[in-house]
Amino acid sequence: MPQIIDGKAISAQVKEELKEKVAKYKEQGIEITLAVIQVGSDPASCVYVNNKKKGCEFVGIRSLSYELPEETNQEELLSLIDELNNRQDVNGILVQLPLPKQIDEEVILNRISPAKDVDGFHPMNVGALCIGKPGFVSCTPYGVIQLLKRSGIEIAGKECVVIGRSNIVGKPMAQLLLKENGTVTIAHSKTADLKEVTKRADILVVAIGKPKMITAEYVKEGAVVIDVGIHRGENNKLCGDVDFDDVAPKCAAITPVPGGVGPMTIAMLLYNCVSSVELEF
Ligand code: GUN
Repeated sequence: MPQIIDGKAISAQVKEELKEKVAKYKEQGIEITLAVIQVGSDPASCVYVNNKKKGCEFVGIRSLSYELPEETNQEELLSLIDELNNRQDVNGILVQLPLPKQIDEEVILNRISPAKDVDGFHPMNVGALCIGKPGFVSCTPYGVIQLLKRSGIEIAGKECVVIGRSNIVGKPMAQLLLKENGTVTIAHSKTADLKEVTKRADILVVAIGKPKMITAEYVKEGAVVIDVGIHRGENNKLCGDVDFDDVAPKCAAITPVPGGVGPMTIAMLLYNCVSSVELEF
């Protein structure tokens, strides 16, 4: 059987480390504050935002909650961001996505000060990652790197294939694997022969958004498979982009869904909040 990469345990470990760090900062009179903005009441966003606030509480980060009505307009949201950008007592600003259709996501994300952009979505932070400068890194791909490192999986010199090219996961994932000296390929919906590409992977990161699409025939014997997808499948059970039961016997290591990548996203958001104290822009 493969090694099952336990995202719950690893995220708990990261959060414990952060809790200690936050306590040390408190002793020095430094308090860390995250402002969380939600517009409307999308049920999935409510769950995510709640978990983010609970995570903050656990590690000792103060969270400020802004719950704005669905009909909020762009100017109103921009003026709240301006106010939070200017507040000395706010370290991080998170605007939960998706936003209602009257608001342009890009305009909003670009308005958050890069120094408070704990999601790592601002072009300045994306650019910093590309050229190897310090900055905030998108939480989900950053979490994948932690899962690999803390499970003793070597990245340097390995063939790494990322399926998916989103700004939030695929592209930063590829950059991070490259930074760790992997040999990186990005595959996507227009890749001509997907199986041929994925079968080369020593480390396969799957973020395509299609339930159980990746079966054993896409995977090389002994590969490490990381599943970023999350879907509610038959009989309300959660599943990923990878057909776990089919792929697992062929792998050296694999992440389950739930309990793999998911818990790491919040842990790395908290990590980014804590590192906001030390990052220089
Ligand atoms: N919506 C779904 N995932 C995310 C995330 O990582 N950050 C934000 N801000 N919104 C999201």
